[in-house]
Amino acid sequence: VDPLVVANWKMNGSEQLLQAVVQQVDGLAEATSATVVLALPAAYLSLTKAFDNTQIEWAGQNVHWLTSGAYTGEVSATMLAELGVGWCLVGHSERRQHCAETDDMVLAKTKACLELGIRPIVCVGENLQERQAGKALEVVSRQLLVVLKDIPSALAPLIVVAYEPVWAIGTGEEASPEIAQEVHEALKHAARSEVKALELRVLYGGSVNEDNVKTLMSMPDVDGVLVGGASLEALGFRRICEQVAGSV
Ligand code: 13P
Repeated sequence: VDPLVVANWKMNGSEQLLQAVVQQVDGLAEATSATVVLALPAAYLSLTKAFDNTQIEWAGQNVHWLTSGAYTGEVSATMLAELGVGWCLVGHSERRQHCAETDDMVLAKTKACLELGIRPIVCVGENLQERQAGKALEVVSRQLLVVLKDIPSALAPLIVVAYEPVWAIGTGEEASPEIAQEVHEALKHAARSEVKALELRVLYGGSVNEDNVKTLMSMPDVDGVLVGGASLEALGFRRICEQVAGSV
């Protein structure tokens, strides 16, 4: 499968940055096998219509599990689909931490996406205490299986998982390629225990930058990357995309 590079802007960016990033990476997405997805703040997603003629794909950063209702500030999968948004991050650790998102909510959001044909990027990852307690694999497998156990297996191939160890997010300290490999392999194994023969794609996220992306991508079970801070600089992000594209 083609490698996938997803930019997560979080609550950052501007119309100007969107223009600059599209300019840098559009031709690249066309010329290579890599798929480039930009996960933008909801406020910018309607601007993407102007880039319909590009190869770039779009993601929401969050979605509600209901289609409409009295939920001030929330965005539904119906709305994302109406804008032509094909992907959505679900269960990012920042939402689990700061917005008290539970595994059950992550499951409901994943289902809401799948019902509308939006591909969920389900984020999993252990925190530092969990890693130090030797519980990393247990935690990430639980987070993944909660989702896989409760969706129709026919839809499972639409899901992409992002392994984002909480201790590596925004810290400048990425997981070693060996740690990423070990966890990705475990996630794929866990996925197959639930959905036979599932070829789960697993992205790595957490302090990915243009200097470490190549080594991370060289691991057999790293199928792409989810880039936060380093996706906010157009040229640097292009260099990351180039290396991901060159990795196959
Ligand atoms: P950083 O790349 O800034 O560490 O963020 C990773 C992340 O959370 C992407 O979703």
